[in-house]
Amino acid sequence: MTLILKKASTKVKMAMLASGALSAKLFIPGWRMSMYLRQIKDLDDNEDYIVSIVVAYMDNVPIGVCISQRWYRYKNPYISVFVRKKYRRLGIGTKMVKRMMGKKPGFRYERGIEGSAKFFQQWRAAVDYS
Ligand SMILES: CC(C)(COP(=O)(O)OP(=O)(O)OC[C@H]1O[C@@H](n2cnc3c(N)ncnc32)[C@H](O)[C@@H]1OP(=O)(O)O)[C@@H](O)C(=O)NCCC(=O)NCCS
Repeated sequence: MTLILKKASTKVKMAMLASGALSAKLFIPGWRMSMYLRQIKDLDDNEDYIVSIVVAYMDNVPIGVCISQRWYRYKNPYISVFVRKKYRRLGIGTKMVKRMMGKKPGFRYERGIEGSAKFFQQWRAAVDYS
């Protein structure tokens, strides 16, 4: 099994990755990730935020996605993460967030499934956004 992470920060490349993530249904129906992915795919022009996206591929199949948004009134970016159930607890979510953030310390995050707060605890500077 080979894991590859791809990151994009330009609109056209982000749209391509978001499109793949949507086709692979890398979101919980009704949660905000699907909306964010659609906005990125459709090249929505929202001047309030800039987005980066990381997609994880297991043997060339998209199995995880991480999105970073930046709103003008917040210093730190806002992170959303999804990993397909079958591939959870293998460190893939952690790898995507690390790839997204590099050495930058602080970010905000959205509350997710039970256990997601524990997931985000690994980053001391993380602040809940809800
Ligand atoms: C939250 C989520 C992204 C975690 O992804 P993941 O790839 O499973 O996370 P990792 O394997 O990198 O987990 C790293 C550590 O975080 C903690 N953790 C992760 N998921 C956890 C859970 N469900 N319960 C308790 N602790 C958890 C553990 O300490 C884990 O280390 P361990 O497996 O050695 O115990 C994934 O469960 C998911 O996609 N959930 C649905 C969407 C969601 O809720 N996203 C968060 C809000 S945007």
